[in-house]
Order: sequence, then structure tokens, then C-alpha cells
Amino acid sequence: MPRDTIVILTGAGISAESGLGTFRDVDGLWTRYDLNAVATPEGFARNPALVHAFYNARRANCATAAPNAAHDALARLERDWPGEVLIVTQNVDDLHERAGSRNVLHMHGELSRALCAACGHRWPAPLEMHAADPCPACGAAATRPDIVWFGEIPYHMAEIDRTLDRAGLFVAIGTSGNVYPAAGFVREAALFGARTLELNLDPSDTATDFDETRRGPATELVPAWVSALLAP
Ligand code: APR
Repeated sequence: MPRDTIVILTGAGISAESGLGTFRDVDGLWTRYDLNAVATPEGFARNPALVHAFYNARRANCATAAPNAAHDALARLERDWPGEVLIVTQNVDDLHERAGSRNVLHMHGELSRALCAACGHRWPAPLEMHAADPCPACGAAATRPDIVWFGEIPYHMAEIDRTLDRAGLFVAIGTSGNVYPAAGFVREAALFGARTLELNLDPSDTATDFDETRRGPATELVPAWVSALLAP
């Protein structure tokens, strides 16, 4: 069976050069906000207004950000590569889609969607969202961001596992390898025979699990990697 499926895991680092903050770098989001207050179901239950304010601010940042050369290169790869290219992103921004990528799974949810905590209905998020916003389906005032918080189950795991198991190449871009299950994908892909490559500014916590690691900004590493892969 041809192993021409490529799975690409992206993290906050691929959007850093678009002006969106990472989490664990110097001045990262988790150095400025208490993740227990803004990225857990308990934090939302305690103070939904604070959580909505945190995500409303990130949604506004996203609206003014633009995809960068790394996002563009991955869209070109999806278009020109003969096999499947699946982007599994931990990011909640829509920069991959705005660069033209279509085969994208957001395992931590998306800022662009609202979720009703009462009935599970999802709808396009307004720029400013509030807990009291009534659910269009059931009317409950239980609106939350459609973001997977710590302690919640990531989205699309069955499809991600199926694709990892048949990938010929697994590439991680802009992620610190801090959060599971995403940080374990490299070992899963390697177990099923994939070659593995890390493209990252600094060594991730899982750097030694990769066959190859390249250091530098995503806007330099990713276009160069894609051009070499697509070269005739
Ligand atoms: N180019 C390439 N890599 C970069 C760049 C850049 N310009 N800037 C930063 N990086 C790298 C950093 O070296 C770091 O390894 O991106 C990584 C960012 O790591 P984190 O801030 O931990 O972000 P991420 O790995 O996406 O976090 C995973 O944690 O808090 C949760 O849900 C949140 O999805 C997030 C998850």
C-alpha cells in the first residue's frame, strides 16, 4: 500500500509569525493568564465572563491576523502532493483555512464556533460572545467557546488515529510537545512505520522521538521543506 499520506501536526508556533501568541514561550499566554481560570471547565463554571473575555480578545486578534508563508506552503503541499495531506492542528485560529488548506482537523476546537453547554448545538461564533447569549437551538443561556479545555476529550481522535496508522510521513511544526495526546502522535506514527520530522524554533519536549529535527522559524523551514518535497 503506498505510504504517500502525510500527517502534519501544528501548534501555536506556526501562527507566531502571524502575530498570534504562543503559550509557553517567553511572554506566552500561560505566563500572563492562569490556565486554570480560562482553559478548564471548572474555570468557566466559576467565572464565565472572564473566560469569554479571554477568548473574545483572542478572536479579535485572529480577525486581524493573516496566514504566513508557513500556512501558505502547507496549502500548496495539499494542492500539489499526489497523496493525502492531513493537518491536525492544536490551534484554534483559522489561518490554515484562510491560507487555502481544506483537510484540517482542529483537535482543540475553534474560536470561530460557539457551543451550547446545555444541548451541544454549535453555531458560528460572533466576534464578542457572552454566556447569556441564548442558544439558537434550545434557547438556554449556556453559551461557551467551542474550545477543548484541559481535562476535556480532544475532537476527531478516531480519524486522527486512523490516519496516523497509515501515514508515510509525520511532521510536527511549532509545538512544544507538552500536551497529550498530540505529543504522543510522533511515537504512534513511528510505530506504524512513518518517518518523522520536527520543524520547530526550539527543541520540543519530544524532539528525541523524531528521526530528524530542523531548527528555525516556521516561515523559513516550512516553505523550504515543501519545495524540496515537491521538487520533481
Ligand atoms: N517558528 C517555529 N516554531 C516556533 C516559532 C516560530 N516562529 N515560535 C515559537 N515556536 C515554537 C516554540 O519553540 C515552541 O516549541 O512553538 C512552540 C510553541 O509551544 P507552546 O506555546 O507550548 O504551544 P503548543 O505546543 O501549540 O501548545 C499545545 O497547549 O495550552 C494548550 O491548548 C493549548 O493547543 C495548545 C497546547
